[in-house]
Amino acid sequence: MPLLSLRNLVKVYPADAGVFASSKSARARGSNKDVRAVNNVSLDIEAGETMGLVGESGCGKSTLGRMILRLIPATAGTVTFNGEDVLAARSTTLRRLRRDMQIIFQDPFASLNPRMRVEEIITEPLVIHGLTPHSGGNPATDAVHANENFSASPPSKPKLHQAATEMMRAVGLDESALRRYPHEFSGGQRQRIGIARALILRPKFVVCDEPVSALDVSVGAQIVNLLKELQRTFGLTYLFISHSMPVVRYLCDRIAVMRQGEIVELGSAEQVTAQPRHEYTRTLLAATPEPEYRPV
Ligand SMILES: Nc1ncnc2c1ncn2[C@@H]1O[C@H](COP(=O)(O)OP(=O)(O)OP(=O)(O)O)[C@@H](O)[C@H]1O
Ligand SMILES: [Mg+2]
Repeated sequence: MPLLSLRNLVKVYPADAGVFASSKSARARGSNKDVRAVNNVSLDIEAGETMGLVGESGCGKSTLGRMILRLIPATAGTVTFNGEDVLAARSTTLRRLRRDMQIIFQDPFASLNPRMRVEEIITEPLVIHGLTPHSGGNPATDAVHANENFSASPPSKPKLHQAATEMMRAVGLDESALRRYPHEFSGGQRQRIGIARALILRPKFVVCDEPVSALDVSVGAQIVNLLKELQRTFGLTYLFISHSMPVVRYLCDRIAVMRQGEIVELGSAEQVTAQPRHEYTRTLLAATPEPEYRPV
């Protein structure tokens, strides 16, 4: 059974939902139509797999990723995670699913609260979920509110500090970073903080929405390698959204190619990049004249 199954997912943004919805000029240009951002997408992602999602700007990649995590509501279709219906989940089930499924954003700066110290930022999910991480073995017994990593109780300051310190180590930042603020860090370091925050709840599945697109190539390569390493350490499954064919070829097991809300090609990273079947995939490959991706 796949870890994640999408069936006939649809997202329509209604015409009147946009910023310029009521402007006469928008109507005059005929731009007051509903936007079918994701159109009937079905996709299975296996546990431990990295699924790449590529396609040109505006084709619906972020919309798809956000719908899976219920950050935006779906218009139609189903999302099944570990056998559970994500879109229908309520209360306790939804809380648990929100822990199991996380997201890493493109712009690390915009996604970090500038007034919070790094320690607060990355441990906030533990506070929100009321989870105390275990430092040793001692598996939790409460199956609904906790798992083998946590017990369901408000975390103490020392426990939070310890969890934050462990995450800093995992993402390759110095412990002293915990006392500082986001603006004191470079783009790559901020992305490491964003990753630490996403992983502190020990999710099973992470949507990486263009996590290296805003970074210099060499810094991005370090983050790509970190994501690879963390996948092994924490047993993660990724949906990795990217514009860059070389990056997805390097990182992903399989690649889904999206065009105007639909998946037009799906195959192994090797097949899709070396022997693309769809005309659009060939166009995408031709449009990325980047050199072979060489991780540092
Ligand atoms: N909140 C919204 N309201 C109305 N339309 C939206 C909204 N968000 C996205 N869209 C539209 O839906 C389509 C898909 O957008 P989406 O952001 O998912 O694309 P994307 O593939 O992630 O693009 P990019 O590569 O630029 O990040 C676009 O036409 C976009 O304009
Ligand atoms: Mg996007």
